Amino acid sequence: MQLTNEEQEMLSGKHGNAAKKSMEILAALGEIFGAKRFVPVTSVQVSGVSYDNLGDAGLEFLEELAKDGKVRVYTTLNPAGMDLENWQALGISKEFAEKQIKVIQAFAKMGIQTTCTCTPYLIGNRPKKGENIAWGESSAVTFANSVLGAKTNREGGPSALAAAITGKTPEYGLHLEENRQASVLVEVNAELNDDTDFGALGYVLGKKIGNKITLLKGIKKATEDQLKSLSAALPSWGGASVFHIEGITPNKTTTPNEKVTITQEELNNAKKEMNDDGEEVDFVLIGCPHCSIDELKRVSDLLNGKKVKKEMWIAMARPMKKLAEEKGYIQKIEASGAKIACDTCHAVAPLKGRFKCVATTSAKGVFYGRGKNGFKMKLMTLENCVKEATK
Ligand code: F3S
Repeated sequence: MQLTNEEQEMLSGKHGNAAKKSMEILAALGEIFGAKRFVPVTSVQVSGVSYDNLGDAGLEFLEELAKDGKVRVYTTLNPAGMDLENWQALGISKEFAEKQIKVIQAFAKMGIQTTCTCTPYLIGNRPKKGENIAWGESSAVTFANSVLGAKTNREGGPSALAAAITGKTPEYGLHLEENRQASVLVEVNAELNDDTDFGALGYVLGKKIGNKITLLKGIKKATEDQLKSLSAALPSWGGASVFHIEGITPNKTTTPNEKVTITQEELNNAKKEMNDDGEEVDFVLIGCPHCSIDELKRVSDLLNGKKVKKEMWIAMARPMKKLAEEKGYIQKIEASGAKIACDTCHAVAPLKGRFKCVATTSAKGVFYGRGKNGFKMKLMTLENCVKEATK
């Protein structure tokens, strides 16, 4: 790789130990993937924040970097293993909380915004079309690439953090236009009415086409929440970290020769396959990815005047909670007995064994609920999730 003077200085240790370590990680990645140079990044999203995933070895790595490491660009964090302020209410142990707080302190020491969310683009970390960024978290990566038109590979925790500390990333993969072109044209012959349908579409695409990049035709309209749902489901179920929808997403792509069709039957089957039999729902989860303000309005309207009879979490970024409080949504949600879960999510909180069967609006939530915690899962519309929680 060709290095600038500054990049060479970082590698030699002139800018401190954290910058040296970071540059070593990035240069190794660049060599492996055949990058010719580094490009500057404008924003970073760091995944690997939950102590449940990091363990003591991860915490030590972060504390070592935090000794002299400072981020050079705007950097936010993925969900942590607990609500950082309200962890007792969500049943988190004191031992876990102490470790999780140390993790957050190490990130804060490096100058990272400690807003822990998988939807940083809803709370101010919203890159513009064409910008190179270094994001972790598959749903956020896919949303940034496909819906915002920014350019990022799917970074792991250490490489995203290294990009934040150096302000650079090796130019390979989805940073290059030629690797962002669609290779399969997908005719969507199915009705897409709500967020859950878009999640089911991501499931079908991932299973049927794998990680090839698709150009979708036949989708007349899609809200940002629906695109958020598709962006989450697609990579979870094996799909690519970028997609194109004719007339909706901002990137240009060549039209591929390979052609497939998605039918209504395939979409219906996908929803059936994401519904496990055999257990009564004992946990209802909304906010995977973390809720937008529109979703919070819908949830609060549906819960208004009702009482939940099962554990129900509504997950969101903390700044989103503040906004929803100003609009009176949080008060209605809390009056129903549903719990607000900021900073965290069911996939990274230590929930194994606490619940048996989870209802959610999220196809990605189904994937991680099964895979990480062994829950039985049920994919439902928001209306049905609220019915399930209140019946
Ligand atoms: Fe976000 Fe967790 Fe879902 S990180 S996308 S709420 S699995």
